Amino acid sequence: MMAILLTGGTGKTSIRLARMLQDSKIPFLLASRSASVVAPPGMPATKFDWLDPSTFANPFQHAFPNGEKISAIYLIAPEVSDPAPAMNALVDLAVEKHGVKRFVLLTGTSVEEMGYYTGPVWQHFEDIGVEYCVLRPTWFMENFSEWEQVVLIRDESKIYTACGDGKIPFISADDIAAVAFRALTDEKPQYTDYKVLGPELLSYNDIAVKFSKALGREITHVKLSAEEQERRLQKLGMSEQFAKLLTSLEVRTAGGFEEQMNDVVAQVTGRPPKKFDRWVQDNKATWE
Ligand SMILES: NC(=O)c1ccc[n+]([C@@H]2O[C@H](COP(=O)([O-])OP(=O)(O)OC[C@H]3O[C@@H](n4cnc5c(N)ncnc54)[C@H](OP(=O)(O)O)[C@@H]3O)[C@@H](O)[C@H]2O)c1
Repeated sequence: MMAILLTGGTGKTSIRLARMLQDSKIPFLLASRSASVVAPPGMPATKFDWLDPSTFANPFQHAFPNGEKISAIYLIAPEVSDPAPAMNALVDLAVEKHGVKRFVLLTGTSVEEMGYYTGPVWQHFEDIGVEYCVLRPTWFMENFSEWEQVVLIRDESKIYTACGDGKIPFISADDIAAVAFRALTDEKPQYTDYKVLGPELLSYNDIAVKFSKALGREITHVKLSAEEQERRLQKLGMSEQFAKLLTSLEVRTAGGFEEQMNDVVAQVTGRPPKKFDRWVQDNKATWE
């Protein structure tokens, strides 16, 4: 019997994935620095820190109720600019010592095989010949509800980005989790990468208009320069390197990099991805 290890275990996609696994009665384990303390009641969790390899053995020591072994791992990088060495070390340990067969890596549209950031992890899957799927979502809708933007929309009615007028097929974490669920649990491995995109191309100005209508007050998109956004993100506690990385993705977005659509969500899950208007209605209380 299989069990699934979810790194990023307190994060936006893993918690949703955990609920789906729970509903399907598939054993899982949440793993992150704080998961064992803050995991939702009834969800098994273990302490795991990408920056502390002495914690890598913890998930494999977990006693699942029916003696299940971890057979697949959902991989979420930590917020550092070069996470691949630590991630590949876990992959090697999992395969060589614990017989793990399958890996699903969550990364982003801009990451290519062999490229920067988590690209070398994707490359490693191919090099060592394991079952894999790489998910490359665009910007999440939940950045407005479960990340730093939530407070700014609620308290200042403002959204700050360096994305200019760039259009984005915003995607809900629910849809990303639904694709990840299939990639982790389908009998046949995917051996591919998926750009996971939402159903409409919207700029942050379009988003501000939609928020204004839904909340009945004016929400404004403040367009920042790259330097202004880097400074702002560092003030929130991000390292200089990571703030620069994130801002460079926003600048790419301003240049039209995210302006693309596909039907991956419908193809993989059998239903279309959630639209932004519906998503705002579902989460309205968050910003009131
Ligand atoms: N947000 C977007 O718009 C967007 C777009 C495209 C791609 N992505 C990708 O999505 C991924 C994030 O996924 P998510 O949104 O599901 O997660 P998330 O909500 O950003 O949460 C991050 C998770 O990682 C854990 N974590 C952070 N540092 C860690 C460390 N050193 N060791 C172990 N765990 C650590 C955190 O838990 P603890 O704090 O408890 O450790 C948390 O569970 C990133 O790789 C990002 O590149 C995001």
